[in-house]
Amino acid sequence: MTYDFKIAAADVGTMYRDLASALEGLVTGEPDPIANMANASALIFETLPDVNWVGFYRNLDGELVLGPFQGRPACIRMSFDEGVCGAAAKTRQVQRIEDVHVFPGHIACDSASNSEIVVPLIRDGELMGVLDIDSPNLRRFTEEDEAGVVKLGEILSKVL
Ligand code: SME
Repeated sequence: MTYDFKIAAADVGTMYRDLASALEGLVTGEPDPIANMANASALIFETLPDVNWVGFYRNLDGELVLGPFQGRPACIRMSFDEGVCGAAAKTRQVQRIEDVHVFPGHIACDSASNSEIVVPLIRDGELMGVLDIDSPNLRRFTEEDEAGVVKLGEILSKVL
């Protein structure tokens, strides 16, 4: 079986709608969270332009531990007091960072990263982890991207 998702939408909103339905199709019916995070990171990495890292940190007993991802090898563990991911986990709020170099405590795993969005993944009030997307471009992620990535997070938090 091959999965061939080539999403080339005319506008950002349509692209995220197509991406959300492709993601829904990939994860529906699969109960294994690692498989779902692995396929999700590959799909998002392939689809979004100008990104250099897409992946997950899981909440394991109050620590963020690296999960499936696409991109360069990354730091393995972070506390909730570290990095953009920690801020998303601690506040349970989306962190959309236009320039990571001015974010206090940002952890540079790939020196190519200049902006970042991190979405907390919450199911039944429990923080399952975060979805982290990095870009080499400054100000890569707009409000429209945030709305789209939050939707992806909603799909994913049900299957983690
Ligand atoms: N930039 C992140 C660290 C993880 S890597 O980007 C993959 C942060 O400060 O949370």
